[in-house]
Amino acid sequence: MIVHRRTISRQGGQTPSLLRPVTRARWTLRRWADRVMDERVERAVARRAPQLQHSVDATVDRLAKSLAEVERDLFPVRHLLATGRRGNRTITEPQLERLYQQVRTVTGVQRLAGYGRQTYRSLIELELRGVGRIAGSTSNVLGKLMTTPLLAPPPGPVLEIGTLYGIFAGGLLRQFRRLGDARHVTVVDPLVGVQLQPGSMGGGDLSGSPVVPELVLANLRLSGADDDEFRLIQGYSTDPDTRAAAGDRSYAVVIVDGDHSEQGVYEDLRWVAGCCVDGAIVVLDDFDDPGWPGVRSGFERACADGASFTLIGTVSTSAYLRFEASAGDHHPRRSP
Ligand SMILES: C[S@@+](CC[C@H](N)C(=O)[O-])C[C@H]1O[C@@H](n2cnc3c(N)ncnc32)[C@H](O)[C@@H]1O
Repeated sequence: MIVHRRTISRQGGQTPSLLRPVTRARWTLRRWADRVMDERVERAVARRAPQLQHSVDATVDRLAKSLAEVERDLFPVRHLLATGRRGNRTITEPQLERLYQQVRTVTGVQRLAGYGRQTYRSLIELELRGVGRIAGSTSNVLGKLMTTPLLAPPPGPVLEIGTLYGIFAGGLLRQFRRLGDARHVTVVDPLVGVQLQPGSMGGGDLSGSPVVPELVLANLRLSGADDDEFRLIQGYSTDPDTRAAAGDRSYAVVIVDGDHSEQGVYEDLRWVAGCCVDGAIVVLDDFDDPGWPGVRSGFERACADGASFTLIGTVSTSAYLRFEASAGDHHPRRSP
């Protein structure tokens, strides 16, 4: 008997009873074929398994060996970049790109890759050559070295309040020189053997070196500065004798990195407002660093009390301020 397909479908999808044995046979055949196929695959895999396992093991061994070689070759680089500190002087590409973006925003200078590379090389070289260290994160130190000269401060000397080992001050002179700008730096610090900070125990420095005048002078020389390009005034920035000695000139660039308490920053900024030229660039270190809330509050208090600083912007954890002498102040004018 011939059963037409059309006839089957007209019966509402039900398999006519005459076809059921055929359908069952098909299913049986298909399941049998599937089983045969599965068994073949399993047998093939089982046959090749030792070979596969061997090649996987060999690849893992090779990768482990390469990794060990890379680790071994990287060790001296990591060791060099650690420079006696908790963190180290490595920086990732995204961190560097974020830093460049901040420097662009604050300075308006767009092309930074070559300058940034040179600055990074200088930072490493300064710490490798010097005794002690520069304080602060890699991003913050790089940011200060790059940004300060790019803000094109008026001509005139540099003052650093809180110099620690003096290495940063030497680096900053080099950065100015990189742009064809020779400056003189005055560094101020009590230099009592340890890094002083209100609230800190005043223990030994991470680098293991004493915070003393001999090292500051040696580091300034090691950075490449000539003796007539720097001077050290040993003392607290709040001390009248220190202020009298440092106040013999007006500064075009000031790095405020001494006493980080609110009162300390307030007093330093009040003093700085009286001894810098119109248009001077003032770098306030550790600004908005959660560890140093007094830096921002000291700045705000100084401004509220009439110190005339405009916040240009921040790069990493440093704030860049411009000092604007008000009419009637007897500050040297900036050069045109
Ligand atoms: C964070 S470190 C300075 C780091 C340095 N500018 C650098 O970039 O490597 C702070 C320094 O400020 C000094 N200091 C603390 N109180 C001070 C004060 N009233 N006047 C001057 N220096 C002070 C400390 O002895 C310490 O050497």
